[in-house]
Amino acid sequence: MKFASQKLMIPGPVEVADDVLEAMGSPVQAHYGPAWTKFYNETLAQLKQVFGTSGDVFLMVGSGTVGIDACIGSALSTGEKILVGRNGFFGDRLMSVAEGYGLKVVPVDAPWGQPLQAADFEAALAHHPDAKAIAAVHLETSTAIVNPVEAIGQVSRRHGTIFFVDAVSSLGGLEMRMDDWGIDLVASATQKCLGAPPGLSPVAVSKAGWEAIDRNPDKAHGWYSDLRVWRHYAVDWGDWHPFPVTMATNNVMALRASLDTLLAEGIQQRLKRYCDLALRLRAGLRRVGMPPFTPDELMAPVLTTAYGPAGVPTGEIVNYLAETHQIKIAGGLGALKDKVFRIGHMSPMVSPADIDEVIAALAEFNHKS
Ligand SMILES: Cc1ncc(COP(=O)(O)O)c(C=O)c1O
Repeated sequence: MKFASQKLMIPGPVEVADDVLEAMGSPVQAHYGPAWTKFYNETLAQLKQVFGTSGDVFLMVGSGTVGIDACIGSALSTGEKILVGRNGFFGDRLMSVAEGYGLKVVPVDAPWGQPLQAADFEAALAHHPDAKAIAAVHLETSTAIVNPVEAIGQVSRRHGTIFFVDAVSSLGGLEMRMDDWGIDLVASATQKCLGAPPGLSPVAVSKAGWEAIDRNPDKAHGWYSDLRVWRHYAVDWGDWHPFPVTMATNNVMALRASLDTLLAEGIQQRLKRYCDLALRLRAGLRRVGMPPFTPDELMAPVLTTAYGPAGVPTGEIVNYLAETHQIKIAGGLGALKDKVFRIGHMSPMVSPADIDEVIAALAEFNHKS
């Protein structure tokens, strides 16, 4: 089956570079042995730079949610209390994961389209001094709001809580300095700003993260998603097979190609390039009368949400771009369905010309409607 070619500008999965595709299509490797182990460990060392941690990094086989599930499930025991930031679809999802582990969840809300406030976590901790942890989404992909995880990390540090961040749609595209910012556990995914196909969830655990995990009784939550199992294999089988399951070797090779490019470009340079694209897109959207949903001071560098023309369900814009220009953008989620559309520019492949092409297609939509 061959799919028609299209420009993929949804908030993940993203278009990947040719060398990433080639790596994905290279001969399948045994997932163990000295050569593979060396390659794998080098890839983890690269990821540590992107996470901003000297802690431990794992590549869990699965989508981003497996990493989220593992972090929350490993750090907390059934019945413990967690504060969960909610200002969009993926904040709601975090709450469901926490509830799935039988945790007592205290939501800390902000309206969709507004960032979470560190002061609200401070206030919630005053009411719930028994809360053991805080969880928040870094880039809320349903609205394109960036949550202030650095400031929330300061609150968490002051109160000695465990802080988990869902960086599924931000790692590699937004600054992440988990050690400096007091973040204990982070989960991400390869198919967004990391510029590789879906299939792996990079997870990072700081020293304090391990202290939190090691408080819990052994064998409390499953096996695959218990990070202690992953640590055990990384240590005990470290010289030949440093993970507990069959590693998705081609996905690791693809990720490695993408990380090589990211680090050669430089993380700061990459972040700046994304910001420039976001500014160009926002200016273009205003020109065609489809203003960004978030104000400039809340700009997300890798994802832009925008309003359509008055009275037009935004699903029509999404369909028009797909059918007429083979450009795939995304509609609004949940409460924002048909009210906004979302353009992902989180692929390292996106160029200023791609942004101009999307704007031209949107202008054409205006003309014909
Ligand atoms: C912020 C955020 N969290 C979690 C997820 C779920 O990730 P996955 O579909 O890779 O499991 C997504 C997916 O878009 C996301 O954007």
